[in-house]
Amino acid sequence: MSTLEDIVSIISDDLIAVESILTENTASEYSFVDMAVQHVVEGGGKRLRPILVILSAKASGYNGKDAHLLAAVVELIHVASLVHDDVLDEATIRRGRETLQTKWGNKVAVLVGDYLHARVLSMLVSRHAEDPAMDILADTTQSMCEGEVIHAYKSGDFDIAEEEYLKIISFKTGKLIAASCTLGAQLGSLKKQSVDAFTSYGNHIGAAFQMVDDLLDFVEDTEKLGKNAFGDLREGKLTFPIIYTRKVCNEEEKKNLEKVLDPKTDESEAIDFVNTLFNKYDVQDHCLKIAQDYANNAKAALSSIPESIELKALLQLADYVVSRDS
Ligand code: FPP
Ligand code: MG
Repeated sequence: MSTLEDIVSIISDDLIAVESILTENTASEYSFVDMAVQHVVEGGGKRLRPILVILSAKASGYNGKDAHLLAAVVELIHVASLVHDDVLDEATIRRGRETLQTKWGNKVAVLVGDYLHARVLSMLVSRHAEDPAMDILADTTQSMCEGEVIHAYKSGDFDIAEEEYLKIISFKTGKLIAASCTLGAQLGSLKKQSVDAFTSYGNHIGAAFQMVDDLLDFVEDTEKLGKNAFGDLREGKLTFPIIYTRKVCNEEEKKNLEKVLDPKTDESEAIDFVNTLFNKYDVQDHCLKIAQDYANNAKAALSSIPESIELKALLQLADYVVSRDS
């Protein structure tokens, strides 16, 4: 399986250009603001969304600089959403660094998220007065907020159905990943049907990505992940691995599962019990299989797009989001 580095080697110059745009467009003349903002903007991450904008643009025949600006814009929306997500989830580590609210408190974190949104608006306005990207990204941001609100509202609700979970992940994660592909593809000169194929690809890899994200929360450690492992479990956030386990286990296990998911239960006891059930019911394999189904559907969505090295990279990315371990 190719590594992410291998897959994106064909667009390394573009990604360097995106990094410069990110730094230049988020700089503040106030040194503390600048320090807090750069702590998250330069805080690493896979840059999956910028990668998708650029590959989708190139696979659609567009090679200009607009893709760099749009790639930076979607990354900033993503970073802003993570800053706010870490406040909601009371997370202490993100991308291997202390979260903003751990370092400087909730107020700074909320305001840095807002600041990044303000920068996103200015960057879009600087592009074109009537920019269709404005519409797509306003709608996307709204859906992300809705997805997070529904997930927070459903926190601790054991009866959450698989369909509800899928809706939540398609909103909070799928929409921005799909928008990254749509925006890139729109830069090319494709027919609407082909642009829709990129959107569908993005929606499917978005679902696969979040499905694997929720699995990794249980099976990898904090150092590898660069964020708190078992975070969802601790917060009572029900994600697919638990929703599925609850569906397939017996009545007694179900009762015990609900007991150990109570935040008052000792954490290592909860982790041990959940691991026992995961092994018994092959939960990891099942989650990976569903994620791979999404990845396969993503690849199938691009079947009518002309061959190119960028298209090949997009197909490899679909498998990468499932095979990744961080
Ligand atoms: C990570 O989920 C969070 C998201 C994918 C979306 C966050 C969206 C918001 C906070 C709504 C506000 C949106 C904007 C644009 C400000 P997770 O907690 O499951 O993943 P994690 O393990 O990486 O924290
Ligand atoms: Mg989180």
